[in-house]
Amino acid sequence: MTQDRMLCDIGFIGLGVMGKNLVLNLADNGLNIAAFDLSAEKVQEALTQDELENPNNPPRIYGCSSYTELLSQLKAPHLIVLSVPAGEPVDQVCESLIGAGIQPDDIVIDTGNSLWVDTVAREEKYKSHFLLFSSAVSGGEVGARFGPSLMPSGSPYAWTRVKPIWEAISAKVDPLTGKPIERTKPGQVIKEGEPCAAYIGPAGAGHYVKMVHNGIEYADMQIICEAYHILHAGLGLSADEIADIFAAWNNGLLDSYLMEISVEVLRHKSSDTGTNLVDLILDKAGQKGTGLWTAVSSLEVGCPAPTIAQAVYARSISSFKELRVQASSTLSGPALLQLSTQEKQAYIEELHDAIYCAKICAYAQGFQLMKLAAKEHGWALNFANIAKIWRAGCIIRATFLQSITQAYERNEDLDNLLLDSFFAQQLNERQLKWRKAICGATMFGIPNSALSSALSYYDSIRSEILPANLLQAQRDFFGAHTFERVDKPEGKKYHVQWSAVDRKTVAIDS
Ligand code: 6PG
Repeated sequence: MTQDRMLCDIGFIGLGVMGKNLVLNLADNGLNIAAFDLSAEKVQEALTQDELENPNNPPRIYGCSSYTELLSQLKAPHLIVLSVPAGEPVDQVCESLIGAGIQPDDIVIDTGNSLWVDTVAREEKYKSHFLLFSSAVSGGEVGARFGPSLMPSGSPYAWTRVKPIWEAISAKVDPLTGKPIERTKPGQVIKEGEPCAAYIGPAGAGHYVKMVHNGIEYADMQIICEAYHILHAGLGLSADEIADIFAAWNNGLLDSYLMEISVEVLRHKSSDTGTNLVDLILDKAGQKGTGLWTAVSSLEVGCPAPTIAQAVYARSISSFKELRVQASSTLSGPALLQLSTQEKQAYIEELHDAIYCAKICAYAQGFQLMKLAAKEHGWALNFANIAKIWRAGCIIRATFLQSITQAYERNEDLDNLLLDSFFAQQLNERQLKWRKAICGATMFGIPNSALSSALSYYDSIRSEILPANLLQAQRDFFGAHTFERVDKPEGKKYHVQWSAVDRKTVAIDS
């Protein structure tokens, strides 16, 4: 009994930026943690930080130097959180825990950005050794420290053990306004509000939902970047002037964490040159893969997500810097347009609406993708809850998520956000300005693939007739792939001998 009291509540493996901050967050919420990292330095950093933040109390973190020591310091059955890079490192830790004597009723929670199919395979692979649960985390360093958005999935039994802890450490939202309840100081704990942690579904579902979150994140970021590019290279505005516009937008419909940080980034001055740092940053985007996975999954599932895919392509094109430099001197664009102050102001308003509409489309794509994937994999996803847990803590948090929550509360079976009455009205009121903004960007010669792919998506979704009739005919012409007719019963297939002498349309029985 005495010894049991000295044991830690939870084990933690991986004390990188996310891991260390999650540990401190757990500690603020009253848990004692046994922490381990392959780097002893990182273990020490976590202990030092705990001492700095909590100087007058006994240490809340016990630093371990091996997997075996970690297990020996935990109450049984063990609850262990992993915060290690996705892929091979997750398996390495799982194997090490098996070697250290982990038990079948112990729970291991993978909080990294694992590929969802890997999570499904791992749950099966390790089930005789321990219970693998997963919970993707969004929110970066600050989110991890003061309240992330958590997307747990896997064994419902494991969730009963994890739930109180997850709800305690997650971000909280005021249920009436849908706004985050701020928590910014070490030691501070928020008990009121709705937690941004909700059980998503069986193994893999949580990581799938987090993957789509990141796909939407890519699109959201790209939309903001295109607006910046148009304002900068098209309208000739400085980073500070653009920051002022974004700050104003952030007080309205476009209020979001990504817009807020973009304002800070644009205003930031380089410590050595004193000029805006953003102008000195090399324009080659990196990516860890979650946006790409979303785009690939959208193609596999057969769900159109062009704005998300374009955001991935935009990062790829940016990485071809040398090619772009070479082409910039040989390929021509339009002559620079000179706009009056009044015309610029009008254009800025159009651009605002374009961002808002494109953003609605990007979210519509992400949510429809989750819906179709859920159907394919037999997951009962609750989209209102998913929107709810994205209202705070995560990277795509925005006031806008409250409207998405309400759309799915109005109709939990909604096939696409664009069909919701609120969003339809938002788009109908702004589509003309959206078009003008894209015409402008095109005439400035500024790439706007996210903004314009979203407009094409919108126009495709609202088109009763698309040119797939001609496409079906082309397919039938060269491959006898058959087609259906609008004037005949659905499902009946036809084929034509297009170039032969006998051009009769033949009904195919099958
Ligand atoms: C989050 C982020 C986080 C991370 C991604 C994006 O939700 O907290 O999405 O998961 O920033 O890894 O990384 P890339 O932009 O490098 O793909």
